[in-house]
Amino acid sequence: MVSLNKSFLYGICFASLTWVVSLYLFFQLTKSKSTFTKVPTPHSWSVKNNIVDPFLKYTKNNAGPSQTYVNSPELVKKLQPVFGSSKGSDPYEEELANLGLVRDNNDLKIKDEGYKMHAYNVLISNRLSLNRDIPDTRNKLCRKIKYEQKLPNASIIICFYNEHFHTLLRTIHSILNRTPAHLLEEIILVNDQSDIPYLHQDLDEYFKKNSLTKVRLFKPEKREGLIRARLFGARRAQGKVLVFLDSHVEVNVGWIEPLLSRIKEKQSNVVMPIIDIIKADTFAYSSSPLVRGGFNWGLHFKWENLPKGTLKRKEDFVKPIKSPTMAGGLFAIDRGYFIDMGEYDAGMNIWGGENLEISFRIWMCGGSIEIMPCSRVGHVFRSRRPYNSPDGQDTMLFNSLRVAYVWMDDYKEHFLNQRKDAKNVDYGDISSRLQLRKELKCHDFDWYLKNVYPELPLPTDDEEQLKKRWSAIEQDKYQPWHSRRRNYVAQYQIKLAGTDLCIQTAKDVRTKGSGLVLRPCKKSKNQTWYETDKNELVLAQLLCLQAGKTSPILYKCHEMGGDQEWRHKGGQKSPIYNLAAGTCLGVNKKAVNATVVMKLCGDPEPSFLNWDIIV
Ligand SMILES: *[C@@H]1O[C@H](CO)[C@@H](O)[C@H](O)[C@H]1NC(C)=O
Ligand SMILES: *[C@@H]1O[C@H](CO)[C@@H](O)[C@H](O)[C@H]1NC(C)=O
Ligand SMILES: *[C@@H]1O[C@H](CO)[C@@H](O)[C@H](O)[C@H]1NC(C)=O
Repeated sequence: MVSLNKSFLYGICFASLTWVVSLYLFFQLTKSKSTFTKVPTPHSWSVKNNIVDPFLKYTKNNAGPSQTYVNSPELVKKLQPVFGSSKGSDPYEEELANLGLVRDNNDLKIKDEGYKMHAYNVLISNRLSLNRDIPDTRNKLCRKIKYEQKLPNASIIICFYNEHFHTLLRTIHSILNRTPAHLLEEIILVNDQSDIPYLHQDLDEYFKKNSLTKVRLFKPEKREGLIRARLFGARRAQGKVLVFLDSHVEVNVGWIEPLLSRIKEKQSNVVMPIIDIIKADTFAYSSSPLVRGGFNWGLHFKWENLPKGTLKRKEDFVKPIKSPTMAGGLFAIDRGYFIDMGEYDAGMNIWGGENLEISFRIWMCGGSIEIMPCSRVGHVFRSRRPYNSPDGQDTMLFNSLRVAYVWMDDYKEHFLNQRKDAKNVDYGDISSRLQLRKELKCHDFDWYLKNVYPELPLPTDDEEQLKKRWSAIEQDKYQPWHSRRRNYVAQYQIKLAGTDLCIQTAKDVRTKGSGLVLRPCKKSKNQTWYETDKNELVLAQLLCLQAGKTSPILYKCHEMGGDQEWRHKGGQKSPIYNLAAGTCLGVNKKAVNATVVMKLCGDPEPSFLNWDIIV
């Protein structure tokens, strides 16, 4: 029966991921625990347990997210490294969201502790196959490009600090699954002194047991931080090209060929994939638009739209796109070139600023940085950086000062004006980097601004100059996926099954923050819920039902899904499940004025969880 069920589900997933399907899955999941892959505890991992859970696989034939690359401010914003929480709804997420179901206290613990440590949904990551398929988000033209058989081979370098076991393994599996073996020299993993117990041993054991001989795991003697950990890895690499990746990514189909072939054309081409979005809350994978890297005078990296005219013809969507800076997490560079160019600034600490340093250096000293649109790598975008530097130093400021003093000439004043707090901050010895700049006979920063990034507004610009720079960049015209209009698809009351009590606001329909209670069912706007096409529940077309830690409230609709996104099967006796919380609407007693709360969806008393949807 179980196996029949599974293949049935498998079949459905390949057809279409509609509302109905996800509900079907949801009820399968709530009913039967056996549909979940047993998640092995890492320390007792065995090869046999490394099962691909068939119904978790995405279909390859699915069209995938939209191929129209119209940049919405939302998406450009979503890509910024000043991470906002990335929630929303798309067809893939429907299915994945169901994996987030918190059935019992153990699930809740895994989820809460996971968020604390990793800032993403570990519960879902644990339940998701290490070999899952992801949608092929490339432009269709990419599939027609033929790359040479003989490309330079690559060493992939991944540094991590306290990365989640399964998520890191999924990174590795995606690389092994989607990189032609002859192009993959090795994967170098640098464990930067993680303090999760057994993580290092568990990984080591896993690679040995599964004979993943191309994976080489290292641990430096002390915590080095991202920058020096990467140097540590790079110096042990043997491949022709170095590819730096983050530890919570999944590479997509054909990701490496565009990178390697561009480097083969010219050694000084430094190239990046497009960074697709893996949502931290659901692990849904979706495509990113074509954007490029820039920065502001606070020396923060930012994504921005492309210069006008970059994408005129069809072919422009698959051609390399020049980028003034790189985000830093993911890029490929010829190993010899990396060394000749002075690697990284080893005087920098832990994290921050290194991406602008290498960006300025490459451009100013004769190289180029490009985005290869046919190379796509998904990255888990987290809402915060879950770790700090060990001694509490503002390493971003320290490192940025080094960038400013080594590379920016007089333009560093713009940065120093923005960061008055930087005045007396020590930034260490930069003499060797200044020497490097001299030896490489680099252009000055003025050259860089004029030739590589003429669109960057200067603090000294007058209005006319600002306008000119502004108008050189593509503006947002049309955002099909973020229409502001709310579309209602249904209207109903929500009654606790087996009673005559309905959910209504404890205060009135306009009071933000109001809780919900049970009251005798009565046709009134206090009890009339409007469901939207984004699965929000809007009371009296005014405020949205929003999940909280212990109970739901009414709140302004934010249109970001997540805690305002609900699932139920309609009709009689349906649980109502919230996507972000992973928990269900319920009560603790069947009585007038009983407060509506968030409960574990596997609550032993289902009659407190089942609702009739009265249309
Ligand atoms: C990978 O490339 C390097 C540098 O060109 C070369 O020394 C090495 O033998 C190559 N590895 C394989 C397995 O061919
Ligand atoms: C709906 O709420 C308003 C404000 O609290 C109240 O005046 C009204 O009587 C309520 N109607 C019903 C049917 O409960
Ligand atoms: C429910 O709460 C309302 C408003 O606070 C109150 O008027 C009513 O008496 C309560 N009913 C019961 C049965 O407790």
